[in-house]
Amino acid sequence: MKEAFQIGPVTVRPPFLSAPMAGFTNGAFRSILRHFGGVGLIATEMISARAFVHRSAAGQSHPDRLWGVAEEPAPLSVQIWDNQPETLAETASRIAREYHPAVIDLNFGCPAPKIARNSASGSALLRDPQKVGDIVAMVASVTEGLPVTAKIRLGLTADTINAVDVAQAVEAAGGKALTVHGRTAAQMYRGQADWEEIGKIRPYLKAIPLIGNGDIRAPETAVARLRDTAVDGVMIGRAALSHPWIFSQAAALLRGEPLPPAPDRREERELIIGHYQLICQRFGPVKGTILMRKYAAEWSRGRDRGKLFRVAASGASTPEEFLEAIDQFFDGDVPSAAEADKQE
Ligand SMILES: Cc1cc2nc3c(=O)[nH]c(=O)nc-3n(C[C@H](O)[C@H](O)[C@H](O)COP(=O)(O)O)c2cc1C
Repeated sequence: MKEAFQIGPVTVRPPFLSAPMAGFTNGAFRSILRHFGGVGLIATEMISARAFVHRSAAGQSHPDRLWGVAEEPAPLSVQIWDNQPETLAETASRIAREYHPAVIDLNFGCPAPKIARNSASGSALLRDPQKVGDIVAMVASVTEGLPVTAKIRLGLTADTINAVDVAQAVEAAGGKALTVHGRTAAQMYRGQADWEEIGKIRPYLKAIPLIGNGDIRAPETAVARLRDTAVDGVMIGRAALSHPWIFSQAAALLRGEPLPPAPDRREERELIIGHYQLICQRFGPVKGTILMRKYAAEWSRGRDRGKLFRVAASGASTPEEFLEAIDQFFDGDVPSAAEADKQE
């Protein structure tokens, strides 16, 4: 199995990529991914090209979603969305010049009604492979060598699967990699990602890498998909929200090394508190606490006392309440701040 692949001039090593996730993959979360390592290419949240252009024209600062991007170590992929080639090209060109990411990724996969139905963007564009190609070509013409990639789904519905047509349009237009989430837009997140369908695209791509995505929950599965499906890379999304070390574990398995242990409860606690501090530094304690509730909900999944944590964190509005929820979650495993003080 290959331990790296190229997106144009960018080497993706190891061949595991983090998925863009709106509301989650911000600067703080990306720093956690970097801390554990094993991610060959890290993605931002998707950024609205239209909003970016409007804000720029009005002389306003750029969106929070670009937080940290300019300073972050490479390689980083910035994802943008809209349906107007000109708007996307203007955004890509400015982001390339001002933020210096490694890759600009175009979103042709989002099925959320706000994006697909109301804005005729994201997965709605899958119905028109020619338009997808026009967008890729126009964006690629302004990024001055920075590779442009596309992220798609299998098609709009089970009856209109057309990922091969879209894949060929992306490559012919100068796209440098294609990521496919193995569901249709109509499925949203229901059912299972179909990796067989993803693999069927491979023979239709001449030279660019194919990255598969969907339902990877364990490091062993990430390596198995790489071995058994005709993909060059594997992208992981939701599992990383509660197990951000999944990439470093997959990378070790790929190198033939034993599975590195997951952090223990004490380390997990430190990780959540560190994450919370980063979020509060950026957004302040009120917005930071609200933002952190969703991460707590993800973190609580399948863990001991997880439900308790989810409920307590979702009701927290102040740092005191949030830290109390953390202490309850780890109660018995790790001394709370108050107990540690008493013991000293
Ligand atoms: C909360 C959430 C936000 C997402 N935001 C984006 C996004 O901004 N851009 C995108 O291309 N896909 C987005 N996705 C889709 C993921 O990138 C990925 O394709 C999907 O979660 C399937 O992979 P997984 O099973 O490993 O999570 C999002 C998914 C979730 C759950």
